[in-house]
Amino acid sequence: MFLTCLVLPLLSLATTATEHPSVKCIIINLEYVHCTWTAQSLPAYNYTFNSSLQDEPHTECPRYLQRHGYNIGCLVPLQSPEDRFGEFSTSLFYDVNSSVSLTHKLRMSVKLNPPYNLTLTLNGSSELWLHWEYNAPGRSRCIVSQVRYKKMPSEWQLSPNVTVTSFSLPEVSGDVEYTFQVRLSVHDLCGSSLFWSDWSEPASFKPKKRFPLGLLFVIFATTLLIALAILLCYCERIKVILLPAVPSPSKNLQDLFSRYDSNTESWAHISRDLKEAFETGNAEPRCVLCKAGDCCKPVSVQLGPP
Ligand SMILES: *[C@@H]1O[C@H](CO)[C@@H](O)[C@H](O)[C@H]1NC(C)=O
Ligand SMILES: *[C@@H]1O[C@H](CO)[C@@H](O)[C@H](O)[C@H]1NC(C)=O
Ligand SMILES: *[C@@H]1O[C@H](CO)[C@@H](O)[C@H](O)[C@H]1NC(C)=O
Ligand SMILES: *[C@@H]1O[C@H](CO)[C@@H](O)[C@H](O)[C@H]1NC(C)=O
Ligand SMILES: *[C@@H]1O[C@H](CO)[C@@H](O)[C@H](O)[C@H]1NC(C)=O
Ligand SMILES: *[C@@H]1O[C@H](CO)[C@@H](O)[C@H](O)[C@H]1NC(C)=O
Repeated sequence: MFLTCLVLPLLSLATTATEHPSVKCIIINLEYVHCTWTAQSLPAYNYTFNSSLQDEPHTECPRYLQRHGYNIGCLVPLQSPEDRFGEFSTSLFYDVNSSVSLTHKLRMSVKLNPPYNLTLTLNGSSELWLHWEYNAPGRSRCIVSQVRYKKMPSEWQLSPNVTVTSFSLPEVSGDVEYTFQVRLSVHDLCGSSLFWSDWSEPASFKPKKRFPLGLLFVIFATTLLIALAILLCYCERIKVILLPAVPSPSKNLQDLFSRYDSNTESWAHISRDLKEAFETGNAEPRCVLCKAGDCCKPVSVQLGPP
């Protein structure tokens, strides 16, 4: 009795120590089998993996998935989409001669890649058409699509399954945003699948923003007022800078005249030669004076006594 109490826990300890992870497999996009044998932690062994389809000989994994250098999964390519109907046998080796073997039925474990290139076109005035593409091999009638759409801010609405790659939503409201996503699965007539693909990237239809006229007017009026105010201030400043208070020149001239007793020659210090030179050619126009309104006529300037 005492001995069994001691031995039983030891036995269970021994069995957990040699417990090996089970292999889980799924077919991705009808192109390859994706198998994994370690969920989170690192495996206790660096397992090697052999597999075979139907009655073909076992072959070692062509492409391991690794974490920190340890094998944790394997990708096995399929020769054709119909391979999923056969049995898939796997052996996980933890020793040269020791392995854990399993047989998988993967017919309904198919996960397709999500559709892509969603495009939206407004056809007519209120009918919205959604188109998408996918790259799953095999017959297109074996692929079903499901569309979900959201009329902001409502919840998602699910469409019925379709075997085409387009979907139309009639009577679309022009002021609301719509968002669409599509996912794929295998048609019931082709063996179906337990899995849907992930949802595609969303595609949105945004209504064209009509700019409110009232707001436009307010913005325009405000801008105009500000511009006018700036212009006004600027002109005032220019006026002050360009036209400072100028002292009247007439007083200074009168002072000069009185100081030199009206003798302009003596205060202007004009030399005698220069004076004569001017007197000889005094009939020619010496200078062109322009005055606003007076259309630039040549004017004779005479120096000295007339
Ligand atoms: C595992 O695969 C290798 C390489 O293809 C092969 O030599 C070996 O016989 C396989 N083992 C089993 C048990 O089938
Ligand atoms: C585990 O085995 C793979 C080959 O199957 C090898 O590339 C890898 O280095 C091994 N990792 C360790 C930690 O030994
Ligand atoms: C594996 O099995 C073969 C044949 O039975 C044997 O010769 C070999 O020693 C074994 N290897 C190990 C590591 O047990
Ligand atoms: C998406 O569709 C457009 C138009 O049909 C096409 O030109 C483009 O190549 C497509 N993109 C991809 C990634 O297939
Ligand atoms: C709307 O699109 C469908 C297919 O995309 C086309 O058959 C139909 O003629 C279009 N209608 C209008 C009014 O453009
Ligand atoms: C839609 O397709 C999925 C996958 O083939 C299937 O499980 C489901 O029953 C279908 N739903 C309808 C309403 O046909």
